[in-house]
Amino acid sequence: MKDFPLQSFYGDIHSSYDRINHIFTFGRDRAWRRQAVIELLKKAPDTVLDLCTGTGDFVLEVARNANEDVELTAYDFSPDMLEVAREKFSKLSKREKIPPVTFLEGDAGEMPFEDGTFDALGITFGIRNLVYKNSRADRHLSEINRVLRPGGQLVVLESSRPENPVWRLFNTLYLRFILPYLGGLISGNLKAYQYLASSSKNYYTIREMNAILEKAGFEVSDSRSLFLGSVMLLILEKKQKEIVSLDKANSGYED
Ligand SMILES: C[S@@+](CC[C@H](N)C(=O)[O-])C[C@H]1O[C@@H](n2cnc3c(N)ncnc32)[C@H](O)[C@@H]1O
Repeated sequence: MKDFPLQSFYGDIHSSYDRINHIFTFGRDRAWRRQAVIELLKKAPDTVLDLCTGTGDFVLEVARNANEDVELTAYDFSPDMLEVAREKFSKLSKREKIPPVTFLEGDAGEMPFEDGTFDALGITFGIRNLVYKNSRADRHLSEINRVLRPGGQLVVLESSRPENPVWRLFNTLYLRFILPYLGGLISGNLKAYQYLASSSKNYYTIREMNAILEKAGFEVSDSRSLFLGSVMLLILEKKQKEIVSLDKANSGYED
């Protein structure tokens, strides 16, 4: 299986990404990110990672709402998307007092962080890239698990395949006949928006995504269906390591 060349795709569309995103979600994406931020900050984390930060809207919203001493890191493998995010950060920090954000370029499959570095990790519209028809899906999920501390919170906002058959049909028609052509027209990259539409159309339902994340070592705390099931907000916790009692650990020893 050949993976879609995501890095060059985002390089090509970085300047139109925000505009197209707002158009395709009918402007709802901001409100969904705000909901995700509320969930992410509920336990007042000291260290937060925004994985697949893109143009930075999620991490900036976290910055506006978090304690001033929170440590924020935003990570993405597209230098062009990160450049847009840095510019937005610099404009916002002139207008509002917000904590600093460390923007880092790198691949989600090899993150330069120690095990258990983060209290909370948010990923908005990024996990589909990491798991849908991606030969490194397992690697990406195990990295997400590794960099979170046990008990740490994972908040996922992503498109989903609606379970309701009528809405699923509308969703499919929209993703098949409207989104790729409109996105292609505005961004000048039809292929990129064909990938985006087809990966959304064939993506997982909430139940399927929760099952995948549970298998990857997380426990579901809450999951919400937004926009009639076309978008999901999942809140999970990294499972605590199984504590092996000394009795159990020693049981194999024979004198
Ligand atoms: C759809 S954008 C989402 C951006 C942003 N989080 C938002 O809410 O709009 C997905 C982002 O994931 C990044 N990405 C995809 N695969 C990645 C990988 N393997 N490692 C790091 N970043 C990746 C892309 O560069 C892109 O910026």
